[in-house]
Amino acid sequence: MKKFRNPLVAGLVAVAAFSLVSCAKKEVKMTSSAPTGNELLVGEVGSMTGGEATFGMSTHNGIVLAFEKVNAAGGVKGKTLKLISLDDQGKPEEAATAVTKLVTQDKVIAVLGEVASSRSLAMAPIAQQNRVPMITPSSTNPKVTEVGDFIFRVCFIDPFQGTVMAKFATETLKFKNVAILRDIKNDYSVGLANFFKETFEKSGGKITIDTSYSAGDMDFKSQLTTIRTKKPDAIFVPGYYTEVGLIARQAKELGLNVPLMGGDGWDSPKLKEIGGKAIEGSYFSNHYSEEDQSPHVQKFIAEYKAKYNIVPDGLAAMGYDAAIVLIDALNKAPEMTNTAIRDAIAHTKDFQGVTGMITLNEKRDPVKSAVVLKVADGRFKYQSTVKP
Ligand code: PHE
Repeated sequence: MKKFRNPLVAGLVAVAAFSLVSCAKKEVKMTSSAPTGNELLVGEVGSMTGGEATFGMSTHNGIVLAFEKVNAAGGVKGKTLKLISLDDQGKPEEAATAVTKLVTQDKVIAVLGEVASSRSLAMAPIAQQNRVPMITPSSTNPKVTEVGDFIFRVCFIDPFQGTVMAKFATETLKFKNVAILRDIKNDYSVGLANFFKETFEKSGGKITIDTSYSAGDMDFKSQLTTIRTKKPDAIFVPGYYTEVGLIARQAKELGLNVPLMGGDGWDSPKLKEIGGKAIEGSYFSNHYSEEDQSPHVQKFIAEYKAKYNIVPDGLAAMGYDAAIVLIDALNKAPEMTNTAIRDAIAHTKDFQGVTGMITLNEKRDPVKSAVVLKVADGRFKYQSTVKP
C-alpha cells in the first residue's frame, strides 16, 4: 500500500490510500482488504491527476465522506460499501478503460463518475451495455443521460446553465456585445457555448465573435488579439479552470480589460491561483455556494472541513450528492440486482442533497437551481440563485 498525494493540491487534501493496478493506472482504495461477501463494491472514475485534478480529487473526497458516514452507521443492509476509484488522468480513453475494468473485472454494482462530460460520454455506452447503473455527479451536457436508461446525473444540464448566464449578462450586467471563446475538443464547452449564444441572441444581445482553443493550449494571444478588435463587453469562456486562468492573465496582458464569464467548469481553488488578479471581477454559474447558509449546506461544510481541513468546492458537494443518491437507492431497492438498483435510482424524488432538492425526471436528469458567483477578493462571492 502506497500513499497517494495529489501534487496539485498537496498538503490541502487528506491523504488517501491507493495501490497500483498496472503501471499506467492508479487505484485509490478506501480499504486494503479484498472484497468479501459482506461488501458492496462501487466503482468511481475520476481525473485524480492532470490538468483537471481538482475535479477528480474533490469529487473523490465527497464520495469518501458519504461512504464513511454510512459505513460507520452500519452500512447498507448490513453490508459495508467499498469504493474502487480509478484515475483516468483526464483522458476519455482512460475513462473508458477504467469503467470497463470496473464492470467486467471488479463487477461493481454501480459506477460514480465522471465529472467532465466528454469522459462521461466515453464511459456511458460501456456502463449501459453492461447494464450497470452509472451516476455522474456533475456532467452537464444533455447527451450524457441520453445514452440509456442506466445513466443518471444529479446536476442540472447545460441548456439551463447557458440560459442562466445569458440572462445574467443581459438583465443584470446589461451587456450587449459578448465574445465567445470555447474549447473545441470539449463536449461540455461546445454545448454550453451554443446554449449561451442561443439565449443571449434571443434576448437581443450580439455575439461579436465566436472563436476557439483546445484543452492543453497555453497561448491564447492570437484569439484574444482578434477578440480585442471587436470591443466586447465580456468574453464568455465555458472551459475548465486551468485554461480559463491562463486566458484571464493573457487577456489582461493584452489590455483587454473586460470580465470573463463562464460555467461550472471554473469551479476550482486553482482558478484563483492561476488567474490571480486577472480573474477578479469575472462571473460564473455553479451548483453550490459555500456562502449558502442553509443548514444542510453548512452541516456538509463542517463535516468536510473536519475530515479534510479545507472548504469543499462544488465538485465535492456534487460527489457527495451522487453518493448519497446511490446509497438511498441501494437502501430502497428490494434486491441488489442491476435492474432493481436502476429502478430505485430512477425513482429518486424530493431527495435533499447538499446542492438542492433532487427529483429525477424521465430523462434521468434533476431539475435544480443554479447560483451565479463572482470572483472577488480572492473568493467566489455569491451573487444570485436562479430557479429553473
Ligand atoms: N459540467 C462540467 C462538464 O460537464 C464538469 C464540471 C462540473 C466541472 C462542475 C466543474 C464543476 O463537463
